[in-house]
Amino acid sequence: MTDDLKSSNVIWHHATVTRERRQKQNNHRGAILWFTGLSGAGKSTLAHAVEEELHQRGCRTFVLDGDNVRHGLCGDLSFSVDDRSENIRRISEVAKLMLEAGVITLTAFISPFREEREKARKIAPHGDFYEIYCRAPIDVCEDRDVKGFYKKARKGEIKEFTGISSPYEEPSKPELVVDTGTEDLEKCVEQVMNMLEERGVFTLVD
Ligand code: ADX
Repeated sequence: MTDDLKSSNVIWHHATVTRERRQKQNNHRGAILWFTGLSGAGKSTLAHAVEEELHQRGCRTFVLDGDNVRHGLCGDLSFSVDDRSENIRRISEVAKLMLEAGVITLTAFISPFREEREKARKIAPHGDFYEIYCRAPIDVCEDRDVKGFYKKARKGEIKEFTGISSPYEEPSKPELVVDTGTEDLEKCVEQVMNMLEERGVFTLVD
């Protein structure tokens, strides 16, 4: 819950259909898979490929993707430090709601600041948040330059671009590191699926 609540006279209403009941119906736990890394590191590609695998196993899933969310929910935010922080705050609140819905939510945001990612982790119950670092060196991302943004950032046409003119803080203790710069997609998906298996996301405890 946010510390600076401005709404007064609001009282929490407890649902009778609880997260536990939803999970039982889904036959898996809810979870937040938080993919972080540079632009072009492969966060969205990996998140969608993992979602595909989970979907085929009958899991309830949803991907929250940086570029997509910035068209709507976060369309009013820039790439300043404060706005990136607000972006991550909103996403983590949405991911928390989806966790209550029993869904495996995959978020694909650069989320460059350690402090913001730690805040996102803290709003989820212990053990439900998995930080997955999509590690790809800046030169690999820049070579790929799928959207042509690195070229523009180098010319100064895009300000505050992560890795060029705005920092990216590597995770210090992520649940998983995947080398999306060197490993192929299939191998990265396998690593994520193994982690979920090991952490008991597919095991329901009453
Ligand atoms: S975050 O830093 O706030 O987490 P987010 O993941 O939502 O970023 O959005 C990143 C995407 O926005 C990038 O993949 C890229 O396509 C686009 N983008 C546009 N401007 C910038 C910028 N200044 N820095 C980084 N990404 C940018």
